[in-house]
Amino acid sequence: MAETVRFGVSIDEELLDAFDRLVDDLGYETRSEALRDLIRERLSRQETERGNASCVGVLCYVYDHDAHDLAHRVMHLQHEYCDEVVSALHVHLDAHNCLEAVVLRGKATDLQKLAGQITTTRGIQHGQLVLTTTRAKKR
Ligand code: NI
Repeated sequence: MAETVRFGVSIDEELLDAFDRLVDDLGYETRSEALRDLIRERLSRQETERGNASCVGVLCYVYDHDAHDLAHRVMHLQHEYCDEVVSALHVHLDAHNCLEAVVLRGKATDLQKLAGQITTTRGIQHGQLVLTTTRAKKR
């Protein structure tokens, strides 16, 4: 395990006040804890922005299952990417609308491509992909 290092940061007072409010709002006990999470988040984003990085993610979207052929087209896309689709959760929200949360694993570019194909399919609402990596672990 890497050694913990202390370092000083120069920061203007207004920015530090805003940071302290954020630390408080998010429920962190210390600035250090919040800063470490910010760094991890940024590192993870950097990693997922590299196209061939190995990523995991969740794609969520809502759609009307009565819309012509939509459920079938979405399922077809998931099968096309069966190496990347780990699991899919389907929730019947009401008489017409369905929510799907699809867990994905693979190269960032492939996951973004699948997400793009699903979320731009006509009739899909609120499509959103969240990508992360298994790097930048908390300790
Ligand atoms: Ni449904």
